[in-house]
Amino acid sequence: MGINILSTGGYLPSLAVKNESFTKIIETNDEWIRTRTGICERRLSDGEPTWYMGAMAAKQAIERAGIDPAEIGLIIDSTITSDFITPSAACIVQREVGAVNATAFDLGAACSGFVYAVDTAHRFLLTDDNLKYVLIVANENLSYITNYSDRASCILFGDGAAAIIIERSDKLYTSWLGADGTGAKFLYAKSRYEGSPFGSGRPRVADDETDPQVTHRKLVQDGKEVYKFATKALPTAARNAADKIGLSTEDIDLFIPHQANIRIIETAAKNLGVSMDKFYVNIDKRGNTSSASIPIAFDEAVTNGRIKRGDKVCFVGFGAGLTLGSAIFEY
Ligand code: UT7
Repeated sequence: MGINILSTGGYLPSLAVKNESFTKIIETNDEWIRTRTGICERRLSDGEPTWYMGAMAAKQAIERAGIDPAEIGLIIDSTITSDFITPSAACIVQREVGAVNATAFDLGAACSGFVYAVDTAHRFLLTDDNLKYVLIVANENLSYITNYSDRASCILFGDGAAAIIIERSDKLYTSWLGADGTGAKFLYAKSRYEGSPFGSGRPRVADDETDPQVTHRKLVQDGKEVYKFATKALPTAARNAADKIGLSTEDIDLFIPHQANIRIIETAAKNLGVSMDKFYVNIDKRGNTSSASIPIAFDEAVTNGRIKRGDKVCFVGFGAGLTLGSAIFEY
């Protein structure tokens, strides 16, 4: 059993921030950012909450699919930047779109989150005959957790959201998901918990390998380690998914990779032996929007006609966790 993607939707904040703007807050320049990352500008929230961007993208996807929101049985929201610890962003999206019969939960797998969500939805569809439509939303406000005094990371991130509506079909589908928690220390942001008023104030269990001194709750990244991981993760995930059904990566019409760094995508393409024109790239305009990056690129590629019905498409992502994953399907 495979999936059919009925429709896509997207929401990008209108605030476009060019590389030049960063020269006012950190020591950097447009040329360094462009040549090291491929990024020229990114959209940043100008007050839009995460749930709002997700709901806007979801409404567009529902409208394009032409379905009744009451027929959506499941909403999965991929985010690492929810506005609330609880309730889930998925429940707020459910309220906003009027999907009154939907189960709703959030999924956190960082930049691989959308791929994890697609595969989770596929498994729900496989096991629940009563489930007709699934709404998958990926919405990220990375500006909530970006450290704007860290010049090596703050220039990377953007905000935005995208959504898809899927149903079961007999079209081609394969996937592969992975994780490596030993790499947690390479990319993380501390959570917001303070502890009870009754403790000694000292953690009795040592913090994990991430730096316990970091209390500012912004993203900390070892760029070089993540880079090394990413260049291997993209080809590994895509190949492992394809191998499961004896598919060659050459048979794939379009790869939609996580948009983290153009050099990572180029190296991955080379390692896979696939030409760059089969990789969809929009990092120049959008930056890295974590789990929203793949669906934002997908929505764009569908809308501008780069993807046609019948094409074999590969979503492939990697990110904090560390996590990696790929889903290959016929559009
Ligand atoms: O979705 C999340 C996944 N995250 C990623 O995929 C990030 C993966 N990593 C990367 O993309 C790259 O490692 C970065 C873009 C983050 C950094 O590029 P790099 O080529 O690894 O640079 P670097 O950190 O080794 O820094 C090289 C130099 C350093 O100066 P020195 O020590 O050689 O004098 C940095 O201080 O570039 C300097 N530098 C900058 N210079 C101007 C770092 N950031 C900047 C900056 N502007 N913004």
